[in-house]
Amino acid sequence: MNQAKLKTYWYPLLAFKSLKRKPQSVMLLGKPLVLVRLGEKIVCLEDRCPHRNVALSDGFVEKGNLRCAYHGWTFDEQGVVTKIPGCACLEEPITIKSYRVHVDSGIIWVCLEGERAFNNPFTCKDIEVDRRIHFKRLKADFIHTIENFLDPTHTPFIHKGLLRIESKQQRMHVTQELKEEGFVTQYQLVDKQNGLINTLFDNGVDTNIASFTMPGFAQIDYLQKKRVVFRVQIFFVPYTEGEVGMVVCVNLPKSWTTPLTFLALRPFMELAYIQDKRILERQFTLQKSYDKPYVSTPNDLVIDHLVHFFCDAPIGTCKTATMSL
Ligand code: FES
Ligand SMILES: [Fe+2]
Repeated sequence: MNQAKLKTYWYPLLAFKSLKRKPQSVMLLGKPLVLVRLGEKIVCLEDRCPHRNVALSDGFVEKGNLRCAYHGWTFDEQGVVTKIPGCACLEEPITIKSYRVHVDSGIIWVCLEGERAFNNPFTCKDIEVDRRIHFKRLKADFIHTIENFLDPTHTPFIHKGLLRIESKQQRMHVTQELKEEGFVTQYQLVDKQNGLINTLFDNGVDTNIASFTMPGFAQIDYLQKKRVVFRVQIFFVPYTEGEVGMVVCVNLPKSWTTPLTFLALRPFMELAYIQDKRILERQFTLQKSYDKPYVSTPNDLVIDHLVHFFCDAPIGTCKTATMSL
């Protein structure tokens, strides 16, 4: 993946409410970071004390500064060493890297490099929604985890009965469009989706629109007569090679019944997540043992676009097809 490009985007790393007095270690693009509250501010520093490379996330907050747990060096919000116990004066300033932080939607966001303006892709401007946000993590390949969410061809197998049933095929017309920083796939449904979730919750979805925006934001809209009735958004975060974070935001149009619908939906969505997690983690383990190229067909709707955006591969072709799943 093009790491230099990926470092310039904003990523959601932690729920604001989970950061209490104790500093928290987080990973982003293979870099260990520490998130800490210093006074009113949320600060992100590299998670490394320059004295003996100890994790600052094992340290503690004292008088608005972060102290290393090993020999007590003290760091301010810019990552500047302000005090060394037993050392009267510092001849040269000692500094560790600090990173830009933004708090929005109850989430702490971090940008590693550059001046890119903050943008929160979870914001819904077109509909008024109630939402639930969950943080997940899995030991899997980053690109393949996004592919899994955006490509429905696995659903009759991994989510057999839950999302689709192979024997009762569902026909749909697929069209795809490439954007500057992503792509959109539209599924015009000919037949109703046939899994248990649809039997219980779907009363007439006729279109699905799945979109992807760099550096890891995916959204699936379920529409009924052009009205969004359900929206799932996931921000995939590349913690390390082989560890992916997922900030999952489930949205329903605001109404007095939405709290109940969220409760009823939760176990089914958790089950779908567990089913995907199992196969993605197995895939990642095996992938390390094989270096053979994949065999793909036009039915693999998103992989070439993802490889284009993440690995600078040539532009993929947009698909137009009638599919049965
Ligand atoms: S390792 Fe941090 S103060 Fe010594
Ligand atoms: Fe899935």
